Amino acid sequence: MPSDDFGQIRLQLEQYHQEHVLRWWDRMDSRQQERLMRQLMEIDFPQMQKLSGLIRQNHGKTPLSMQPAEVIPLPETPDEIRAASQARELGERMIREGRVCAFVVAGGQGTRLGFDGPKGCFPVGPVSGKSLFQMHAEKIRAASARYRTVIPWYIMTSEANDAETRAFFEQHEYFGFQSRDVYFFKQGMLPALDESGRFIMDSRDHIFTSPDGHGGSLTALVRSGAIEDMKKRNIDVISYFQIDNVLIQIVDPLFIGFHCQAAAEMSSKMVRKSNPYEKVGHFGRVNGKLRVFEYSDMSAEDMEARNEDGRLKYEAGSIGIHLIHPDFVEKETRSGTALPFHVAHKKIPCLNEDGEIRIPDRPNGYKFETFIFDALQDTTRSVILEVRRDHEFSPVKNKDGEDSPRTAGRDLSNYFGEWLEAAGMTLPRDTEGNVQGQAEISPLYADTMEAFQKKARINKEFSGSFYQDKE
Ligand code: UTP
Repeated sequence: MPSDDFGQIRLQLEQYHQEHVLRWWDRMDSRQQERLMRQLMEIDFPQMQKLSGLIRQNHGKTPLSMQPAEVIPLPETPDEIRAASQARELGERMIREGRVCAFVVAGGQGTRLGFDGPKGCFPVGPVSGKSLFQMHAEKIRAASARYRTVIPWYIMTSEANDAETRAFFEQHEYFGFQSRDVYFFKQGMLPALDESGRFIMDSRDHIFTSPDGHGGSLTALVRSGAIEDMKKRNIDVISYFQIDNVLIQIVDPLFIGFHCQAAAEMSSKMVRKSNPYEKVGHFGRVNGKLRVFEYSDMSAEDMEARNEDGRLKYEAGSIGIHLIHPDFVEKETRSGTALPFHVAHKKIPCLNEDGEIRIPDRPNGYKFETFIFDALQDTTRSVILEVRRDHEFSPVKNKDGEDSPRTAGRDLSNYFGEWLEAAGMTLPRDTEGNVQGQAEISPLYADTMEAFQKKARINKEFSGSFYQDKE
């Protein structure tokens, strides 16, 4: 390493009070020194100093002038049904013309699930044990086949899981995709800071970093060349989803149609909150700007407020599903990220006085992330579409309990259970309405209930487990 570079870095470390990262410098071999230098040269010191200012800020105030956001409801009236059918037609045309791509953010660490590997490799098929990646891949391929087009798939990983993710795809022959239609890219990483704003070392030659949040996908899309690739393919609609939602409808003509009719820059799906205290973000407007509020930012009064018809005033729960125009991604990132950073107080592995790694028993530092939904406040045109939770949203977040592999398996079996019932099978259900047993249908066999009804020859008896693979 040139000594000039080292001198410059050392100066910068002094200027930003981070010299402690060189504590073991003299005891490291040249390979270790190079590793640390390489990392230091990539750090944006002024940005990290700004972020350290966030540590002591007060969070969690409810904005006073908040109003509920307007939503396209589930179609019920004849007018709504007509509007939905027109939107669907437009959406189908967009897909057929090859103007839609799929985009999954899969760079998260999946800490709560505690799975050893990228979350997308986690097996979730209730009968087949298919991984999240495979389930999504089959949905996208089924849509490509239905609309006789090619829907490319953009996959955002992070430093922590990129190599494993790519290897998983190679091992599974890209789940039937042409490799040129799967575009991997990495999101950015950011150092965490300790209570006094200093970097945290997780080895003698490495500063602890974590992915910069799903909001980091906007800059990563541009930096990686993915947006350029989309432009070459004439893509107008990026269908954004998160890796862990097993019920995701990735290529949804209805949503795409409403989004395009409105010439929206970024649109979202919502479900009705299941109870006032459900821990999801929700859509609202402040000073006319669309926002997603975290549940922790709301007062109990706002959370419980109801309209005259008895429905929650703030009932639009955000489920991490968006459509985004590539031009909007470019606009948002023209001069660095436009998104605000959020701070999380976390337990971060760090070195003790002897340079040995330890996991603290209390939060010892701060991670910084941006959230994709914060881009909504920069939109001039946006659509929010209500969807059914039991048809579109069941995330795998935790090892057990709510939003776990168990609830995801239950929700998939309930979802496909409806298809089986529509095709004439009788399924036992428990007192809560859950199918007693497992059901799963590959989208490569049928991608809608109607398609399944037409095709399937069904036994009336359910044996406790049903699986339909492609043909
Ligand atoms: P979550 O916020 O649920 O995080 O991400 P997670 O990593 O899956 O799980 P925990 O919080 O560590 O337990 C929602 C979606 O956003 C992606 C995740 O991969 C998931 O699809 N994400 C999150 C990223 O791609 N990058 C990030 O930096 C954070």
